[in-house]
Amino acid sequence: MRAAVVKVPGPAESLQIAEVSDATPGEGELSIEVRFAGVGFVDTLFRAGAFGLPTPFVPGIEVTGHVREVGAGVSEFTVGQPVGALLNDFGRGVRAGGYAEIAVAHASMTIPLPEDADLARVAGVLVNGVTAWMSLHHLARLRVEDDVLVLGASGGLGGIASRLAAVHPASRVIGVVGSDAKRPFVADECTDVIVGADLAAMVDEMTDGRGVDVIVDPVGGELRGQAFERLAPFGRLLVLGNASGQDRALSGDAAFYGTRQVMGFSLGGVAHLVPDQVRTALAAVVGLTHRGVLREPAPSVVPLTDVAEVHRALENRSASPKTVLAIGA
Ligand SMILES: NC(=O)c1ccc[n+]([C@@H]2O[C@H](COP(=O)([O-])OP(=O)(O)OC[C@H]3O[C@@H](n4cnc5c(N)ncnc54)[C@H](OP(=O)(O)O)[C@@H]3O)[C@@H](O)[C@H]2O)c1
Repeated sequence: MRAAVVKVPGPAESLQIAEVSDATPGEGELSIEVRFAGVGFVDTLFRAGAFGLPTPFVPGIEVTGHVREVGAGVSEFTVGQPVGALLNDFGRGVRAGGYAEIAVAHASMTIPLPEDADLARVAGVLVNGVTAWMSLHHLARLRVEDDVLVLGASGGLGGIASRLAAVHPASRVIGVVGSDAKRPFVADECTDVIVGADLAAMVDEMTDGRGVDVIVDPVGGELRGQAFERLAPFGRLLVLGNASGQDRALSGDAAFYGTRQVMGFSLGGVAHLVPDQVRTALAAVVGLTHRGVLREPAPSVVPLTDVAEVHRALENRSASPKTVLAIGA
């Protein structure tokens, strides 16, 4: 099969299109003829060697396509059926493998799709949608009276988190972007937009000094520290990523005296521990997207051969909110 392979982790150029052995399913798994594979910021970290995947490896943690073969013990899927799958259940051992003509998924991380599903759009909502759903609902326990602040609102995870919070509905969803040029990428569902530099003053103005109840943070760095200071009593900071490349120490006293909660969530680290929650989230996000309730914009669709270019764009902050690779016919 054809795949984008990393033999030596490094810059975007280390992604090379090559012929490799077909992936085959083991017990509890199925193989998928991949139609579309989503690309996210985290893929750039895998490619660069941040998580130490054994080489050579094929990145890509979300795909849509059609079932090719089912492994032993898998009875709920049939060959040819359209499906969407997460390939980031790393707790079961090594996975990923989405940038390929054939990918292998665990059955519990796979959901059937309607025959008329938009496979490109669905491929673009799987990882970010499940992450946003589980962190907003299971961790933050979002309430209708909550004001939500979304950092990195122009990106993939920030975008879908904004829309999910809005359809909940949360009382207010404030999107934060790095520059005026990113304003057009913020979800229409956001009630307000802040350009990063004005964060503290703007949050105070918008909330009459009360602060926000939930912060969705896939960015980290200085922005995380500023946002944490604007968290209202009983507020929840969802630490979901570090697109800025900078971690940041948070004050225990600020959490204690402010009665604020810091919550981390890593889908790839826990997916295998809570498969029922993952499947519920997958079904919810895909169902809401398919019905148009979650108005996810169509992703940019590019050929597999453009994958290095997409990685470069993610790293220099010029990428579309979401890109998917078109792979099989
Ligand atoms: N917890 C989980 O399970 C989980 C799941 C999915 C993703 N993630 C993480 O969430 C983060 C975002 O992923 P994504 O796919 O949504 O990425 P993305 O589409 O590239 O969005 C990231 C956003 O962060 C902002 N940003 C601020 N500083 C940045 C910098 N120095 N470099 C790049 N972006 C910067 C950018 O917005 P502006 O330019 O407007 O500032 C960008 O739109 C990543 O760290 C990823 O690993 C975590």
